[in-house]
Amino acid sequence: MVSKILPLQIKNASVKKRGKKIIGPIDLGISDAGFTIIMGPNGSGKTTLMRLIHGLENPREGTSTWNSDLKTAQLSQSFVFQTPIMLRRTALENITYPLILQGIDKNTAANVAHKWISKINLEASSNLNARYLSGGEKQKLSLARALATNPQLLLLDEPTANLDGSATKEIEKLLQDAHEAGTRIIMTTHDIGQGKRLAEDIIFLYRGNIHELGMAKSFFQKPVTREAQAFLRGDILE
Ligand SMILES: Nc1ncnc2c1ncn2[C@@H]1O[C@H](COP(=O)(O)OP(=O)(O)OP(=O)(O)O)[C@@H](O)[C@H]1O
Ligand SMILES: [Mg+2]
Repeated sequence: MVSKILPLQIKNASVKKRGKKIIGPIDLGISDAGFTIIMGPNGSGKTTLMRLIHGLENPREGTSTWNSDLKTAQLSQSFVFQTPIMLRRTALENITYPLILQGIDKNTAANVAHKWISKINLEASSNLNARYLSGGEKQKLSLARALATNPQLLLLDEPTANLDGSATKEIEKLLQDAHEAGTRIIMTTHDIGQGKRLAEDIIFLYRGNIHELGMAKSFFQKPVTREAQAFLRGDILE
């Protein structure tokens, strides 16, 4: 049994790039269940915060502490990037390869991959080199590849930013299913409708700081800060 990596405690953490503070200082606890959406204007630090949570950024100050040891935490979480990165292999192998790297035997990996390929309706393209898939298909495949490893924490950076309504709906269904199956999800989106459909709670970032944090319902109905109110009205925030 793998130990639980959550909760994660981020304390007084900041991220700096070339002398400029990009994030923080922030305090943030990530509990072991839920669906959190990070919202905020362009450049507010959403991607950087996700990278900080995932461990791709080291806090310049402050600490980030998992419930488990770091190695277990690294192996038990998955990050889906806005632009999917496909292995130069078939669609099916894009799912089997990370599983085999994790030490899962080839037959089991192939069974898991077939199940996921069918779940994302890509059977007809399972033996096609993944770089020939459409943008929406690549995004579905990268999500399936992440979910196939059964992560405790799934981080997604604008997973539907370039997709049309029907591809977005398919991705949202996969995310809702994963959430119901117990995967802890944190994602960013610019799409207020998507936030309302999916989020249990919201982190609203503005200029690298957490401006609002709490239940999605109250954030969308009664945002407290002027910046969040303007953002939800669709005003341009400097
Ligand atoms: N490596 C870097 N060096 C210098 N500045 C950086 C670096 N990475 C990010 N930044 C700056 O940090 C700020 C926050 O960037 P970040 O990508 O986290 O924002 P974001 O909220 O994800 O924006 P978007 O909505 O456009 O994706 C931006 O002003 C960006 O230019
Ligand atoms: Mg971003």
